[in-house]
Amino acid sequence: MKKKVIAYGRVEKPVLEDLQRKYDVKFFKGINPKIDEAFLEHLKESEGIIGLDLEVDKKLLAQAPMLKIVSNVSVGYNNLDIEELTKRKVMATNTPGVLTDTVADTIFGLLIATARRIPELDYFVKSRKWNGELEPKHYGIDVHHKTVGIIGMGRIGQAIAQRAHHGFNMNVLYHSRSKKPEAEKNFSATYCSLNELLTNSDYVVLITPLTAQTRGLIGKREFQLMKQSAIFINGSRGDTVIEKDLIEALQTQEIAAAGLDVFQQEPVAFDNPLLEMKNVVTLPHVGSSTHETELKMSQLAAKNLEAGLNGNIPPTLINPIVLKRN
Ligand code: GLV
Repeated sequence: MKKKVIAYGRVEKPVLEDLQRKYDVKFFKGINPKIDEAFLEHLKESEGIIGLDLEVDKKLLAQAPMLKIVSNVSVGYNNLDIEELTKRKVMATNTPGVLTDTVADTIFGLLIATARRIPELDYFVKSRKWNGELEPKHYGIDVHHKTVGIIGMGRIGQAIAQRAHHGFNMNVLYHSRSKKPEAEKNFSATYCSLNELLTNSDYVVLITPLTAQTRGLIGKREFQLMKQSAIFINGSRGDTVIEKDLIEALQTQEIAAAGLDVFQQEPVAFDNPLLEMKNVVTLPHVGSSTHETELKMSQLAAKNLEAGLNGNIPPTLINPIVLKRN
């Protein structure tokens, strides 16, 4: 009998089809996993879960007694209760590495788009409003030779620093859990306290994972510390920022503009005030979403899943302690 697997949210089609040949895979999208009967029925006998953004908490795990592995198709794993998974000896995996450059490209694109007001000016041209001389109100702000402060200097933070330093001659500041000598050497990055970074950066880029320590990291006090001309970019998770404080900082011109790939609620509510602001550039959480990288992420997640189902060590296991306890 084929092993039962749940695929959830997003798994690229060729990868899903391949898994469906080998396992009894049911794909769920756009359901409420807490109450969907078909989902809960399949979960009872599933040995693996693969997908994006499924909240795997105590309650869900209590209904999944056969589960061996949860394979996230994302680098972030704030949707997983790692402690509970580990307690139950269930492996958890993510997809680091394969998306690093793609996310860095997106974040840098968002930074430039916000500074140079690209979406706003695109609309200006396409809506046939460009009928005379340009005025200072259409000007943007330089990116090159400015100071970027990167909060979270992991793989993606370093790829952003690389673009900033080598591509745009920017001065790079960073704040991270630990110092990163390789970033200091390769991109002339300077480690500083969060306060120093916020005070001295023209661009503040948040790219830290969402953890208990980073939830609500940037709020009223932090926006007040930023320059009035600062541009804030969030490529991490919506919950690393207190969104109502961001809205207020933009409304009161505490900061100049924001570029956001992530929101506290996703999809973002249609009445969110951020959607009304010209100086805010928004994306629908597409940091890693290129054809090439989405496929690579699904492939790596499938590799992880299959290793876990076969009792082997998945290539990018998050909680190796599971193995020691076996
Ligand atoms: C995207 O946000 C990811 O965590 O991969």
